[in-house]
Amino acid sequence: MSKKTVTKLVEIPTWLEFWRKNRSNMKVYDMAKVEKVSEKLASRVSMWTGDITQLDIDAIVNAANRSLCGGGGVDGAIHRAAGPELTKKTITLAPCGVGEAKITGGYLLPAKYVIHTVGPQGEKPGKLKECYENSLKLAQNNNLRSIAFPCISTGVYHYPAREAAEVALNTVKKFLEENGDTIDRVIFCLFTSSDQEIYQELLQKFFAID
Ligand code: APR
Repeated sequence: MSKKTVTKLVEIPTWLEFWRKNRSNMKVYDMAKVEKVSEKLASRVSMWTGDITQLDIDAIVNAANRSLCGGGGVDGAIHRAAGPELTKKTITLAPCGVGEAKITGGYLLPAKYVIHTVGPQGEKPGKLKECYENSLKLAQNNNLRSIAFPCISTGVYHYPAREAAEVALNTVKKFLEENGDTIDRVIFCLFTSSDQEIYQELLQKFFAID
């Protein structure tokens, strides 16, 4: 059994830090027509590749199903790491509609809270947008300052990864622009190298910075 490691927020570089440190050795996409964002906005997001259950932050988001009883993928990983008390709690909150979000404690997880959301099956951008918006609103209403998202719907639910990333980044950017200082950091928690490549490219588009 590999030793469970825990990653703290301070160990996760902001996009601004990552871009300034790595732009010389990463594929830079010519986003000629994109508008630049402020350094402040570029410091409110991060991408991080790893197991979301290791993150010691305020909230991690779970890509759940409407029964909230756990499952495979990230749902299974979160329920296993949090322990049986999580599942006992989530089933009392079921059903959770597609696009809705519900919050529980983190139990045995390093994260303080888990926000459970149910993504759409297949490419339904309006519903995927709701997952990100409602999760962010729940975090805001609970005064949570750091939140990590997996790539919702892109596994078992077969949402095309790149199209899902466009929705995720656009929705998070809009929320942060409209909600000022209520959230310090949104982490896009990636689990595959292909998602890492997609986000490295699209962060240059949605959070373009000099
Ligand atoms: N940490 C971070 N990301 C993870 C982890 C993990 N430990 N495990 C898987 N992922 C990633 C996958 O690589 C994928 O990019 O989470 C993303 C979402 O994939 P799924 O977990 O399959 O979720 P989704 O596509 O939304 O399907 C949800 O699957 O597990 C069931 O109960 C769940 O019925 C629901 C459905």
